[in-house]
Amino acid sequence: MSEILLQIDGTEVKAAEGMTILKAAQSAGIYIPTLCHHEKLEPYGACRICVVEVDARGRKGLVAACLYPVESDLVVRTRSEKVDKTRKILLEQLLAHAPDAPALKDLAQQYGADKDRFAKESSFCILCGLCVRYCAEVKKKNAVGFVDRGASREINFVPEIASEECWNCKECFPLCPTSYLQAAYHLTEALAFPRAALKPASGK
Ligand code: SF4
Ligand code: FES
Repeated sequence: MSEILLQIDGTEVKAAEGMTILKAAQSAGIYIPTLCHHEKLEPYGACRICVVEVDARGRKGLVAACLYPVESDLVVRTRSEKVDKTRKILLEQLLAHAPDAPALKDLAQQYGADKDRFAKESSFCILCGLCVRYCAEVKKKNAVGFVDRGASREINFVPEIASEECWNCKECFPLCPTSYLQAAYHLTEALAFPRAALKPASGK
């Protein structure tokens, strides 16, 4: 696999072909914030908080570092006025959903984001998909999934699967940046598991 030389925040970084900017930065000890990224999962590009500024042979723009592949002579800036402003607005939008999420509060402090800028739509889930993707890609169980689209999109445990698989797993719980996941699980457990338990055994 050929080696690629790029520049991140003025530092020359060596990366392998096919790496993302995020991976190259992490390998060089350069921090880029993330909310929907997990090293065991396929890149997803939902939160956009990993936005960085790139100059690729004169083509300039903002890209998601967790998706964008490295290329020779790429110049990357992980902090700039544009990057910081974009992260600030993204955080303000996310804070409207989950104003008390510790991961968001820490970032909000760094970027001067105002949690009251946008009207509250407290869904408490920021749709990062970590729980859904971890259960599907790592555990191969699909006990939690997305339902609906647009503004009504939300995560939902599938009672028939969750009642059998989740009680002994819960590996997705610490991944959730807002703690909504735990609440959703306990609600499903309280409302649906007794009914699921009455159903015929799945043959496991
Ligand atoms: S419940 Fe948590 S982990 Fe799952 S999509 Fe929502 S914020 Fe992300
Ligand atoms: S970490 Fe890159 S889009 Fe979420």
